[in-house]
Amino acid sequence: MFEVQIDPTRSKAQSYRDLEAALRSLLEGETDALANVANAVSLLAHSLDRINWCGFYVLRGEDLVLGPFQGKPACVRIPIGKGVCGEAAARRQTVVVPDVNRFPGHIACDPASRSEIVVPVVEENVLRGVLDVDSPEPGRFDEEDRAGLEKFVGVLIPRVAWGRL
Ligand code: SME
Repeated sequence: MFEVQIDPTRSKAQSYRDLEAALRSLLEGETDALANVANAVSLLAHSLDRINWCGFYVLRGEDLVLGPFQGKPACVRIPIGKGVCGEAAARRQTVVVPDVNRFPGHIACDPASRSEIVVPVVEENVLRGVLDVDSPEPGRFDEEDRAGLEKFVGVLIPRVAWGRL
């Protein structure tokens, strides 16, 4: 139904604009929170190259709890402040880790992961969770990935009833 092809002749910025348009189209007319987040993650997994894991952790109380994802089974609960996910959640800022082996407290779920980016999901000042993307390649994520993934999360936020996930 939705195929976002990775075209190496297109710039990364253009690819992220295509991804954003695909996300808008994919979610149009549907209000189910779980279905929309699950489809958004699938879209990401099939659009980004050189990644081995992507998915959401949803805030439940003081913990981030595993939500829709694509990749190997992962750790279920991450306390705020722990690991890359917990750090991004605590700071409410995107964290880019070029080499996970140099990030103190990194939580290794898939040993193939070498670099990582975590984007917080903040809806009207309320922390809802994080988007986590892992790559088997060191230094995979740059400023364009940060901007593109923050936009992706920004498009998703008002289209999902996070409290019902
Ligand atoms: N590496 C993350 C844990 C989640 S997995 O990568 C899926 C972290 O340090 O928070």
